[in-house]
Amino acid sequence: MKILVTGGAGYIGSHAVYALIEQGHEVAVVDNLVTGHRQDVHPKAKFFHGDIGNYRFMRDVLTTVLPDGVIHFAAYSLVGESMANPFKYYENNVGATNSMLKAMSDAGISNIVFSSTAATYGDVLEMPITEAAPTNPTNAYGETKLAMERMMDWNRVAHGLNYVSLRYFNVAGAHPSGAIGEKHDPETHLIPLILEVAAGKREYISVFGDDYPTPDGTCIRDYIHVMDLAEAHILAMKYLLDGNPSTTCNLGNGEGFSVLEAIEAARLVTGKPIPIKISPRRAGDPARLIASSERAQSLLGWIPKQPQINDILKSAWKIQKF
Ligand code: UFG
Repeated sequence: MKILVTGGAGYIGSHAVYALIEQGHEVAVVDNLVTGHRQDVHPKAKFFHGDIGNYRFMRDVLTTVLPDGVIHFAAYSLVGESMANPFKYYENNVGATNSMLKAMSDAGISNIVFSSTAATYGDVLEMPITEAAPTNPTNAYGETKLAMERMMDWNRVAHGLNYVSLRYFNVAGAHPSGAIGEKHDPETHLIPLILEVAAGKREYISVFGDDYPTPDGTCIRDYIHVMDLAEAHILAMKYLLDGNPSTTCNLGNGEGFSVLEAIEAARLVTGKPIPIKISPRRAGDPARLIASSERAQSLLGWIPKQPQINDILKSAWKIQKF
């Protein structure tokens, strides 16, 4: 396949690019490098530095590369930041994607695999969450991703766009080579922060809220390995190129870990004490998010290879120690 990856210098995008290239596919990357890292783009990928919201730039890239499809990661993705600055999220996520979809339509490119999120659901009562669950985001980030999904669906109706929206739960881990990993700046995600404490780079991990309606009072999340996630994107693109209809799939492992359980698992994996400090809740956090990924398994043939939280932690820990 010939694939254009937007956000291919970011955390998940760079891992997907590595997986695509390792499987012999041809890859071009578009990234504005606002949050991505140029050195994380696989050396065999063609790199275009620019913004997906720049219509002329994107149309030129698309008509030059003429990909079989686009895997679209480029977006802002921090729940806390989206609550403080929704303008930034609507402009960059919704506005820029609208412009990019127009460029795709004008360039005659009709297949897209889209990086969506469990944050589109909000607080769901029934676990695990299937794709039929109601979507009521509790934060602006999830709201923008839901809007992007809907935008694609209306363009399916109007222009024959084919899409797979992949709603991921909580991603962690790194490429087995150690060449790339999670490098957000500032880091806000639980797993890398816990491991920074284990590595002695931070004094303690703040636990955001211990009064949620969960057994130990801390939020429950479903953690998935970034390489399993990367593989799902490749399978989703093949699914579309085989002529299958547009769809939305959850990606998770179907097992929930509370913040305290994740910290305890990290203590066992690293052999370090990892002190904690109970802090106030963070705005916008749902109490529990656990995925049913049955649809991804049956439609895409996706089988996670590293579903255990210990393996995910070990993979992230290997990078942390570099
Ligand atoms: N948390 C802490 N302390 C920290 C950081 C996080 O207690 O220092 C807690 C959060 O409150 C949350 C859990 O750990 O309960 C996980 O938080 P992350 O920031 O690691 O991940 P989120 O669940 O907020 O968000 C992630 C992605 C989103 C995605 C979402 C879907 O960043 O893009 O998962 O569940 F939408």
